[in-house]
Amino acid sequence: MSLAKRRGFVFPGSEIYGGLGSTYDYGPLGVELKNNIKREWWNYFIHQRNDMVGLDGGILLSPKVWEASGHVKNFKDALVECKKCHHRFRPDKLRRPEEVGAPTNASRLRRPEEVGAPTNASRLRRPEEVGAPTNASRLKDPSKCPDCGGEFTEAKLFSGMFKTVIGPIEKEGVTTYLRPETAQAIFADYKNILSSGSRKIPFGVGQIGKAFRNEVTTGNFIFRTLEFEQMEIEYFISPDDDWQKIFKGWVDYIHGFMDVVGLERKRLFDHEIPDAERAFYSKRTIDMEYEFPFGQDELWAVAYRTDYDLSKHQEYSGVNMEYLDDRTGKKYIPHVIEPTFGVDRTILAILSTAYSEEGDRTVLKLKPNIAPYKAAVFPLLANKPDLVNLAKKIYGDLKKSFYVAWDDRGNIGKRYYSQDEIGTPYCITVDFDSLESDDVTVRDRDTMKQKRVAIKELAPYLEEYCSRS
Ligand code: GAP
Repeated sequence: MSLAKRRGFVFPGSEIYGGLGSTYDYGPLGVELKNNIKREWWNYFIHQRNDMVGLDGGILLSPKVWEASGHVKNFKDALVECKKCHHRFRPDKLRRPEEVGAPTNASRLRRPEEVGAPTNASRLRRPEEVGAPTNASRLKDPSKCPDCGGEFTEAKLFSGMFKTVIGPIEKEGVTTYLRPETAQAIFADYKNILSSGSRKIPFGVGQIGKAFRNEVTTGNFIFRTLEFEQMEIEYFISPDDDWQKIFKGWVDYIHGFMDVVGLERKRLFDHEIPDAERAFYSKRTIDMEYEFPFGQDELWAVAYRTDYDLSKHQEYSGVNMEYLDDRTGKKYIPHVIEPTFGVDRTILAILSTAYSEEGDRTVLKLKPNIAPYKAAVFPLLANKPDLVNLAKKIYGDLKKSFYVAWDDRGNIGKRYYSQDEIGTPYCITVDFDSLESDDVTVRDRDTMKQKRVAIKELAPYLEEYCSRS
């Protein structure tokens, strides 16, 4: 976290005003890392497949969307407050002390009713379950505050959605919500997407965008925040398709994305969510949990949403959501498999996996394709115009195709260490030999080995080592 702030990856939100809890801003390097991850996701899940298209739906949607989807009624959390210290908790988040932050391989061995940290999706529980005693039963002693031992108030329900008013006069305006998931725009636009291209089922729609949740239990840096970004897919299938097979196909395909962004497969655990924990719309959910520094928790998820959403939108909007299969002549409301990804959690997983301390140097071993800078260019000495001019020329040329850094401060060793810390895969040094032989030293971040590369070969070199995996 300190490196993330010091080097411009992630800053606490509104810090000059004392901060706004659980909000963060992505700094100059953070936004590069984030954009690179989103670009790789789009490429892997949309462009590389023949059955996927994209969408950029609105954050503000008609309030009817949220009534139809069930969010207005069900997207609620139970909250208890300690009567003594007034700390607030979601009962379902309170675990036994030995379980908190423990590496939770073991968590999958727990009895279903004990499995802590239910997913955000699990907020969308069946109405009768929200705030029901099942939550309380997870507490070691439901009447005691884990911070001070005080008594709790009764559990109250509160909405996880942020309200906002459209129109100049608040009382007369239309109340809607900042979207708590990107998925619903895909359902609302489903008919338009279908008619605007010659899509045949099965096909999917992917979307990247902000989502907002009024979370009570926040924390663990960017793991759970009020405003975050999702990358979601709604994959439309026929009710006659073998959904289990398609579901498994997606699980496997998602595992492949770990290699694309440099996450460790051995740190990922597919956690089958038991019936009682699943969102009401889901017939099967797998939470893909990652070993974060604070313990194992949900990174991504896949759910079988059945025809729940499209049926509800048909019911509430009066628009027919049926698909006509022109081969069989059969009409049906498509079913949906939903792979969902949090951008911020992906960043947290990547940063914590990449971070390493080797002797006196700190290295972010980011995969080159997602590293903010692909290379840094240095003149060996800042006070030698010939070296600076040649280095500037190389820097300018490379910048046309790659995001590259310039550094001419301090000694070369310090510049290397400074680039290691932000994950720059290659450092290019222009020295006196470069003036004669038209080549430069290229130093590899991970091995620290150096080699001479011809100046005209630099762009193909970076292309080969920094392009997509
Ligand atoms: N459309 C399904 C859905 O929204 P979810 O499990 O509630 O499912 C999907 O959320 C993903 O969004 C999660 O796997 C996680 O990566 C991310 N996410 C959810 N709530 C978050 C929060 N408060 N802060 C950061 N990321 C969050």
